[in-house]
Amino acid sequence: MATQVKEEAANASQLSADAAELNLVEFWKQRAALEGLEPRADAQAYRWKWRDLEPRLRLAGETVPIEDCERRALVFANPGLGGMPHVTDNLFAAFSLYKAGETAPVHRHTPCASRFVVEGDGGFTVVEGEKCKMNRGDLIITPAGTWHDHGNEGSESLIWMDVLDLPIVSKLNLTFFEFDYGEAKADKSGAHPIATGYQEVTEADDISQKLYSAGGMLPLFAPERRGLTGNHSPQFVYRWQAARRALENLAGHPGSLHDGLIMEYVNPTNGRPVMPNMSFRVQMLRPGEETALRRRLSTAVYFCLEGEGLVEVDGEQIEWGRNDVFAMPSWRWSKFKNTGSENAFLYSVTDEPVVRATGLYREERETADGGREFVVFTSHGERVVEL
Ligand SMILES: [Fe+2]
Repeated sequence: MATQVKEEAANASQLSADAAELNLVEFWKQRAALEGLEPRADAQAYRWKWRDLEPRLRLAGETVPIEDCERRALVFANPGLGGMPHVTDNLFAAFSLYKAGETAPVHRHTPCASRFVVEGDGGFTVVEGEKCKMNRGDLIITPAGTWHDHGNEGSESLIWMDVLDLPIVSKLNLTFFEFDYGEAKADKSGAHPIATGYQEVTEADDISQKLYSAGGMLPLFAPERRGLTGNHSPQFVYRWQAARRALENLAGHPGSLHDGLIMEYVNPTNGRPVMPNMSFRVQMLRPGEETALRRRLSTAVYFCLEGEGLVEVDGEQIEWGRNDVFAMPSWRWSKFKNTGSENAFLYSVTDEPVVRATGLYREERETADGGREFVVFTSHGERVVEL
């Protein structure tokens, strides 16, 4: 008997050694990790306070020359992700500061990027020849493959929040960055593009906004398809004043049980998210409004534009106020409350479109009568599944 046990142990040991040598894994040893009973998000629900961020950004403005970094950004690193510069498993986010008169040279890349102005007016982003002005609360998108450069023409420093789908693109090993922008016009003969750091503005300022921001109407004369892929909204700038007006006009509407009044920035030509991997949203919570519990199979980063409140995540309460940022990992029970006396406005970006594309997006949520429902999302819409 003892001999048989010894022999089996020796065989098992030999098998492990052989597997390692042959670059094989013994499934039974990693089964628990491979067959997870539910998603394991290492990322934490976490908040960054504006009062901690602002002085560091301004210090960076004094100590880090823009010429040395091109983009002067402090990147949100979720404390559950081991120092990775990712705000959630699938999203990259940062606050960037540009002092008056500073510019950031042109480049393009395969990750989709966005800016939402946190403080200051007078900024601009040139996207594919269109100069988009940037004031507080405006959203500017630079979809995959669009040349873009930035600048601050105001008299004060400008701070904005960048959100990119960089972790998703990186995991799929699809990252390209290009810095060799050239324009034929820069060459007197016009025959050869020569490198230039900034785009000549070739379109009317804010033309994509003028073309596409009249809700419910589309120009029939301007098939806007700039950029490398065209798989994105033709409107590159979305104004805060329009978003705010849309929300305030609905102040008497009950809204969503789980989000209050929430609206998505969309591609005006098809109603889909402005870029394929991320959905951009803005919501208004009225004074005292408290949402119902929900957990979703997606991650999100939130920015508080105005007001104050708290988000409860798996029972832990996190307070937020003006210019604070917080990360929401996947599949955590959460709800929101406006604890102030004014309307609270939250801007958020989620990777939900990517999850939906897999066909696996789902929610579990509290119902109006205090029960629970499990919801899956199909091409025909959402469907409640009996638990
Ligand atoms: Fe960029």
